[in-house]
Amino acid sequence: MPEQCKVDMEKVVSLCKRRGFVFQSSEIYGGLGSCWDYGPLGVELKRNIKNAWWRAVVQERDDIVGLDSSIMMHPQVWVASGHVAGFSDPLVECKVCHLRWRATDLNGKRCPDCGGELTEPRMFNLMFKTFMGPVEDDAHVIYLRPETAQGIFVNFENVMTTSRKKLPFGIAQIGKSFRNEITTGNFIFRTREFEQMEIEYFVKPGTDEHWFEYWVNERFNWYLSLGIKPENLRLRRHAKEELAHYAKDCYDIEYLFPMGWAELEGIANRGDFDLRQHAQQSGKDLSYFDDETGERYIPYVIEPSAGVDRSALAFLVDAYDEEVVEGEKRVILRLHRDLAPIKVAVLPLSRNERLVPLAKEIYGELRRYFMTQYDDAQSIGRRYRRQDEIGTPFCVTIDFQSLEDNQVTIRERDSMAQIRLPIKGLVETLRAKLAGESFATQPLWTAKGTGAVDQ
Ligand code: GAP
Repeated sequence: MPEQCKVDMEKVVSLCKRRGFVFQSSEIYGGLGSCWDYGPLGVELKRNIKNAWWRAVVQERDDIVGLDSSIMMHPQVWVASGHVAGFSDPLVECKVCHLRWRATDLNGKRCPDCGGELTEPRMFNLMFKTFMGPVEDDAHVIYLRPETAQGIFVNFENVMTTSRKKLPFGIAQIGKSFRNEITTGNFIFRTREFEQMEIEYFVKPGTDEHWFEYWVNERFNWYLSLGIKPENLRLRRHAKEELAHYAKDCYDIEYLFPMGWAELEGIANRGDFDLRQHAQQSGKDLSYFDDETGERYIPYVIEPSAGVDRSALAFLVDAYDEEVVEGEKRVILRLHRDLAPIKVAVLPLSRNERLVPLAKEIYGELRRYFMTQYDDAQSIGRRYRRQDEIGTPFCVTIDFQSLEDNQVTIRERDSMAQIRLPIKGLVETLRAKLAGESFATQPLWTAKGTGAVDQ
């Protein structure tokens, strides 16, 4: 039996829309195909994914530095990189309904929509074109970048000299890329505008296989460290005939999405293809002088290339859970605490005028340190459910006893355990818990353990 993801895509899409993670682009005009807008919670999730990546590959290492290159680049860049000549997909058109398809998706079958006969395939370049300046002729054509990688290669020399890096070292970049994909779909999985997180890691030729293996492991473990379930993640090595024009070797990290196993990130050994091509095309020397051995050579490159949107989808699917507590359905996003859009919710037991000032004061203090939400609408149980559904790890509840003993109740999302803690030192307590520390003392009670419901 084929392996199957336990979560329906429709449920995730519906949650994303209902709670403000993802909206269809230009929805009031009927939407624009394959384009999506990230709402208040989606933008936080994406920022958290990017921050976690940046932290792991730049902040916590001393061999990788960052870059933010422009989306529009000199058109010769794309000639040198091979994209003008070769970044294409075979396109076929249905002779009856005129829908267009990527031939490789059809395995020689007839039109999937109406069964009509298809034209012979012709190559279709996936780069978006536009014009720079007011003259719209061939001399002014430029492209929206289809990968962030080339911005790194053309800055190799600039970054190496200004940051005084020696091999092996890497350059990391996060940014938008654009591909005029023939077929899109599966929500934010394949879109025409998307965000990439790419590293180009430059190494001495001959050490490339070691570093290739190193990065495959490093990147695989990054997803696990952020809570992806191991059974939903696998590695797939590309067959020789599948390799991109620049690649010596490539692994895909695949995730078990609702539509099946699909690429989440690619790790390629690009050899010296790109630097050699740019050196030739630009006439600039892009070799590296190894002052330890006295050798000069063009470095090889290992490239871990991830998609922000695809990661967001994988994290959402993996975190989505439903359970029944006391006969009531509870939808939970069990997002890793580093990825959760809102870290803490402050919930006064009611809108009572004696509770509100203290609740507002606590809210004011916590929001200085964490993304915090204040919610006082409807019953406390309902409010817990709302926070569960968006993945908020902790709720802080202020009740009448808080006015007497200066303590609040902290309720943990996954276990629903509740514990009473002093208001003094709350920031430090929450910070420790958001860094992964578990409850040090026995919880007051757990809804799961006792069968009691949140009240
Ligand atoms: N620089 C190498 C490169 O761009 P890729 O395998 O074409 O390699 C890398 O893309 C990653 O970018 C993919 O694993 C995926 O996560 C993301 N990606 C590529 N095309 C995408 C699309 N149309 N929509 C969303 N994400 C995409």
